[in-house]
Amino acid sequence: MAHGTRTPFKNPVIDWIDERLPVFTLMQREYGAFPTPRNFNYLWNFGALSLFMLIAMVATGIFLAMEYTPSTDHAFASVERIMRDVNYGWLMRYLHANGASMFFIVVYVHIFRGMFYGSYKKPRELLWIFGVIILLLMMATAFMGYVLPWGQMSFWGATVITNLFSAIPFVGDKIVTWLWGGFSVDNPTLNRFFALHYLLPFVIFAVAFLHVAALHVCGSNNPLGVEPKTEKDTIPFHPYYTSKDVFGLTVFLIFYALIVFYNPNYLGHPDNYIPANPMATPAHIVPEWYFLPFYAILRAFTVDIHIPFTHVVLISSKLGGVLLMFGAVAMILLMPWLDRSPVRSALFRPMYRVAFWLFMLDCIVLGFIGSKPPEGLYIVIGQIATALYFVFFLIALPLLPRFEKTLPLPNSISEAVLKKS
Ligand code: HEM
Repeated sequence: MAHGTRTPFKNPVIDWIDERLPVFTLMQREYGAFPTPRNFNYLWNFGALSLFMLIAMVATGIFLAMEYTPSTDHAFASVERIMRDVNYGWLMRYLHANGASMFFIVVYVHIFRGMFYGSYKKPRELLWIFGVIILLLMMATAFMGYVLPWGQMSFWGATVITNLFSAIPFVGDKIVTWLWGGFSVDNPTLNRFFALHYLLPFVIFAVAFLHVAALHVCGSNNPLGVEPKTEKDTIPFHPYYTSKDVFGLTVFLIFYALIVFYNPNYLGHPDNYIPANPMATPAHIVPEWYFLPFYAILRAFTVDIHIPFTHVVLISSKLGGVLLMFGAVAMILLMPWLDRSPVRSALFRPMYRVAFWLFMLDCIVLGFIGSKPPEGLYIVIGQIATALYFVFFLIALPLLPRFEKTLPLPNSISEAVLKKS
């Protein structure tokens, strides 16, 4: 930072450090005086909440790692020891296990908020891409974390999901063996999952840093979706949004605490309190709730596609499911380019608003189907819901702007806000 652009701090220690490494000036600029749209609603708390959860997961995870043993012979027992014998081990474990769910809740709200208000649109595409990378990393981290207690669902979940890679033509089986570090999910698999589960959150930190850095280049979007034009449209981040974030965090912590202290196993599966047994497959293998919509999409592809007039399978049902599932995440990534409307916020897009809520409903249906066994009507509903998922991205997003009559946008944020008051 160039000399002379720094305002000295009153505290001599802070000023001494800042003169040599202007971190406090940077904080003051990016989080103190940072001009922020004055009309945020509570949905804008969820970025800060995501950051809080990331820190909470790393903090509790480090304590768990001190007592956990990543070996197939001891993993299950070491987790039980944490729960029963280690001081406050039960608290660390319940905070961490339910923390994963809380993290996904806040990140999903954060994503849907972005979708509703068009935060993914120009100039925030890169910010969005970093977000989707974080989502993928979170999924990988959560998946590997769930394997660590080495319960029945841990083992069979890992077996089903890693096996999906075998659907890749020619090299699939080799990839699976490589992932496992052997010929089944076993000790080497557990060991490497533990190593990666410890590493990935730090990678998420790095990408989250880029995510927020990219946000601070273009500034935040807001519920109206119109850019701030004058000083009247913005307020300094501190104290207005710091206090709003603290309030939101307090409410969120109450909710988190209610689950951890009153119903800590509500979101878990009882089978994971049975030690992993490669000789006994559970009746239904289900992932954690936050994967259920993707799991439903994975299972929606039920037929093998052949080269016409031959018996040669072009796309097996397994490969089709895997492609659909990755395609589902790719759709989110491509949103900035699929949505052609120049208007950001759904508040001014009557047709998109309806499509958005139907899409939300569709995701809930997919989640429900993901929790059910793949049989009878569930298969058909899952297939329809999967089709509708892709219809939203590939048909509604690009085509709606052609027919949609958007509502008139306000001239500025301050005009709209002050008119209300
Ligand atoms: C570890 C996970 C994440 C963290 C810590 C995080 C953090 C943040 C923070 C602090 C903000 C600014 C406050 C706010 O607008 O709420 C933000 C904004 C944003 N994030 Fe995230 N985020 C995460 C994941 C994601 C994901 C998965 C996506 C989308 C796929 C995403 C998309 C966005 C967008 C579009 C904005 C700009 C919102 C606006 O200006 O309206 N983020 N994020």
